[in-house]
Amino acid sequence: MTLQKLLGIQLPIIQAPMAGSQGSALAIAVSNAGGLGSLPCAMLAPDAIRNELAAIKAQTSAPVNVNFFCHVPTAPNAEREALWRASLAPYYTEFGIDASKIPVGAGRAPFTEELAQVISEFKPSVVSFHFSVPSAELMARVKSWGAKLLCSATTVEEARWLEAHGVDAIIAQGLEAGGHRGMFLSDDLTTQISTFALVPQIVRAVKRPVIAAGGIADAKGVAAAMKLGAAGVQIGTAYLLCPEAMTSPVHRAALKSDAARHTALTNLFTGRLARGIVNRLMKQLGPISSAVPAFPFATAGIAPLRAKAESQGSGDFSPLWAGQNVGGCKEISAAELTRQLASELH
Ligand SMILES: Cc1cc2nc3c(=O)[nH]c(=O)nc-3n(C[C@H](O)[C@H](O)[C@H](O)COP(=O)(O)O)c2cc1C
Repeated sequence: MTLQKLLGIQLPIIQAPMAGSQGSALAIAVSNAGGLGSLPCAMLAPDAIRNELAAIKAQTSAPVNVNFFCHVPTAPNAEREALWRASLAPYYTEFGIDASKIPVGAGRAPFTEELAQVISEFKPSVVSFHFSVPSAELMARVKSWGAKLLCSATTVEEARWLEAHGVDAIIAQGLEAGGHRGMFLSDDLTTQISTFALVPQIVRAVKRPVIAAGGIADAKGVAAAMKLGAAGVQIGTAYLLCPEAMTSPVHRAALKSDAARHTALTNLFTGRLARGIVNRLMKQLGPISSAVPAFPFATAGIAPLRAKAESQGSGDFSPLWAGQNVGGCKEISAAELTRQLASELH
């Protein structure tokens, strides 16, 4: 079965969910153009998710993918937090920030019973997960209204594991990808390989359709991924300059600059590895630091620095998530970009 048939879409192009950088508007535009738009929910409260799903329902009858993180939440650790705040102390002084007033907070929530209840009111036909899948009970709940489930895999082992746990299609996330690495069976960075090495190996290892993600930015890249056996592609970075995305001004400026050619994996902004454009914080404290609290607690300590810097037009403390190929970022409508990405498919 083709991916289009499985998901009820016309084009095998999935707009990657990008928490913090887009909402329903981008998803609606891509889905109405025949691709699969995605709504990232990791940074949304239940009411916000409800509002976004209502907006989607009002503006498209095409399928839209609803995306969640599935990390195992940990309790905040005072010792790690203190170490992290000490690393950031010189910056607090530079910006005149009173560190004692910065709250400890998570900022990103995993998929739960409560969120399953929220989405059950809308019965989305596609639901995707990052950092593994939820419990068998929650998976069954989401499948009960016929939803197809997708999840990112970054290794052959993760792909096999996802297939055994009932995922309908597997997103092969190569090392080039922007944003968080979906790795969940291992945190060993040496297991992570590039998209065009990963996709054919996962295609051979599993029976489910495989969706290629990471560094795909134009029609030739899409066609090449399909040649390697992918049933579809998931593209994030290329959509970040579309007017329907909520990409911040400093993020947009960075994506358009020469700096965008230099990305790295960093754990500084959340506590988990994610790929972004190298900026001041990454140069000075990382890109990878052992002083960082566990995911997602690193975010709270940086938040006031990010806010101050961004108000001065600087992305020095912002997560400038981007993949290794920003060559496809265009300031054109998401519908037009989707059509262009699909233009070399037969
Ligand atoms: C700004 C940004 C935010 C992202 N946020 C999410 C997210 O919330 N959920 C998710 O499953 N993947 C997220 N990703 C990863 C994408 O799903 C995908 O793996 C990646 O965009 C593919 O690589 P590309 O950016 O080179 O196209 C994000 C990627 C970017 C660039």
